[in-house]
Amino acid sequence: MPHLADVTRDRVLFGGDYNPEQWPEETWPEDVRLMRAAGVNTVTVGVFSWSKLEPRPGVHDFGWLDRLMDLLHDGGIGVVLATPTSSPPPWLGHLHPDTLPRDEDGRTEWWGGRQHFSHSSATYRRHAAAITEALAARYAGHPALTLWHINNEYCTYDHGDEAAARFRRWLQDRYGTLDALNTAWGTAFWSQGYGDWAEILPARRTHYLKNPAQVLDFRRFTSDMLLECFVAERDIVRRHTPHLPVTTNFMPLWSGVDAWRWAEEEDVVSVDLYPDPRDPLAARHGALVQDMTRSQARGPWMLMEQAPGPVNWRGVNHPKPRGLNRLWSLQAVARGADAVCHFQWRQSRQGAEKFHSGMVGHAGEEGRTYQEIKRLGADLAKLGPHVVGTRVRADVAVLHDWHSWWAGAQDARPSARVDYADVLHAWHRALGEAHLTADFAHPEHDLTPYKVVVVPQLYALTDAAVDNLLAHVRRGSSLVCGFLTGVADPDDRIRPGGMDARLRALFGIRTLHEWWPLQADETAACDGFRGTLWSEEIEADGTATETIPYKGGELDGLPAVLRKGGAWYLSTLPEPDDLRDLLARVAAEAGVRPALDGLPADVEAVRRGDLLFLLHHGREPVTVDVPGTHRDLLTGDSVTDRVTLGRYGAAVLAR
Ligand code: GAL
Repeated sequence: MPHLADVTRDRVLFGGDYNPEQWPEETWPEDVRLMRAAGVNTVTVGVFSWSKLEPRPGVHDFGWLDRLMDLLHDGGIGVVLATPTSSPPPWLGHLHPDTLPRDEDGRTEWWGGRQHFSHSSATYRRHAAAITEALAARYAGHPALTLWHINNEYCTYDHGDEAAARFRRWLQDRYGTLDALNTAWGTAFWSQGYGDWAEILPARRTHYLKNPAQVLDFRRFTSDMLLECFVAERDIVRRHTPHLPVTTNFMPLWSGVDAWRWAEEEDVVSVDLYPDPRDPLAARHGALVQDMTRSQARGPWMLMEQAPGPVNWRGVNHPKPRGLNRLWSLQAVARGADAVCHFQWRQSRQGAEKFHSGMVGHAGEEGRTYQEIKRLGADLAKLGPHVVGTRVRADVAVLHDWHSWWAGAQDARPSARVDYADVLHAWHRALGEAHLTADFAHPEHDLTPYKVVVVPQLYALTDAAVDNLLAHVRRGSSLVCGFLTGVADPDDRIRPGGMDARLRALFGIRTLHEWWPLQADETAACDGFRGTLWSEEIEADGTATETIPYKGGELDGLPAVLRKGGAWYLSTLPEPDDLRDLLARVAAEAGVRPALDGLPADVEAVRRGDLLFLLHHGREPVTVDVPGTHRDLLTGDSVTDRVTLGRYGAAVLAR
């Protein structure tokens, strides 16, 4: 199987999306000059080029791309070639309206934007395959081609008739009989029993609440259909270039596709990441997405897109202050990225993204953005030989699963305030603030590499996942589970007792009487900390080895936290510092050490291979104790016992 290592060859891939079709050809040599001056070694080409490559049905114009590929190759710049299938040309929708997706109200999503394709449309799939075939046949032997990039951020839904037909087939494969489907979906409720497959619809608009099991399956189906589209194109390019790796770029922690499943189908896992520079927790979000992508890749991964400056799709779009793009890029490398790429190379002058930054902004070569890109290129060139291909080691795993997310993120729940992604962020942040490096894992993955496993929230668990958690604790390792875990089975059917009986026994819970979700302005006082978001009326079975009770209020004296040996259950979400302290304690007891002791709060430390990355997320200089003598790969200086980091500063220390 081809790997990212086949492409990197000791260099961190550095560059961005390049959309030269937006520019007169005279600009291209200038682009290459600026790329070379900045150390750019990789660009992604063709993501949105379908109408240029196939201006009329079956009529191809590859001349411009031939010239571009040659030019890039002559400049020593490798090409990540994208199949252009995320934005079909107007003629496709015009001639074949069946290629256009429908929203849940049955409204058509027209061309004029992008991603207006129905994953279920046979016509779309045929045309997507044809342009992919033509592209792959033409460039298979081109020396600039290094990697395939299929489509772009697969993320569309379709509720139309062709999707309905495919949904029914998907359900037939899953359930076999209508009886089984009726049972799984609980259709006895509200007179929803199906007597004919033809009666079944995608999760279209309803008068009142939709059947949650139907919604859950529709989300599974959507992920599977998009994956079928990816696999079909992947197989075409693989046939032409079996030696080249294939990727598609994930959106960061996006709920739409089961990225665990998808990652198994990719040679290289890549992600797009756009933290908000104004968000005080932006770097924590970045760390989460990076840890998750590394875990999906099971090794080095690609940061396919980040903004070199502002985006244009938030309400208010702030640029990155001086130094921040470098810091966040180094953070990605620290957490396992072997590629640091941007959207996009040259800022557009027209179109919907003309206010979105580019590596070469409207200010051009003199602009701060390009000047900082140059500096970043120089830094990455220094790191490449030391870092590329090396691994990040983590003793802690955070469990995450899309199916549980889909089951839990529906209407008519005990609290609309519980947002799965927020809870996941809160736990990952707590680990980060304890300076503990964590992988992510699927609940059925092998957990033996981890001394500590945390489950922020897995509302729906398979039996195999429950067995996996029990086995982890039986091995003598630690498990910390948050509330609303093990509540439902994979069909979103509530487990007897409101929580899986084996998990209740694991934590020492006899009865889970009621959930007491908290209001925004409400906290639950516990012995030694405050809980937020949620609390529970639990009766313990007397087997816990440690109990932290609620104090005062309706739940006074009842357990907020139960611990039985290595297994901990948190029936509330402690405030950030308290969760951090609790997880730090569990980790310390399990023999898991932070990347470095005594770190200032704003400094993130990650070990990758033999290197220690120190990343300073604050603006005031700090000094960090680093016992021993090291060499800072960024400055080349020798560092003994302490290093000072300036505003958004970083050091990469080698022994
Ligand atoms: C990404 C997308 C790019 C570009 C970018 C802007 O989601 O893949 O094509 O639109 O956002 O931030």
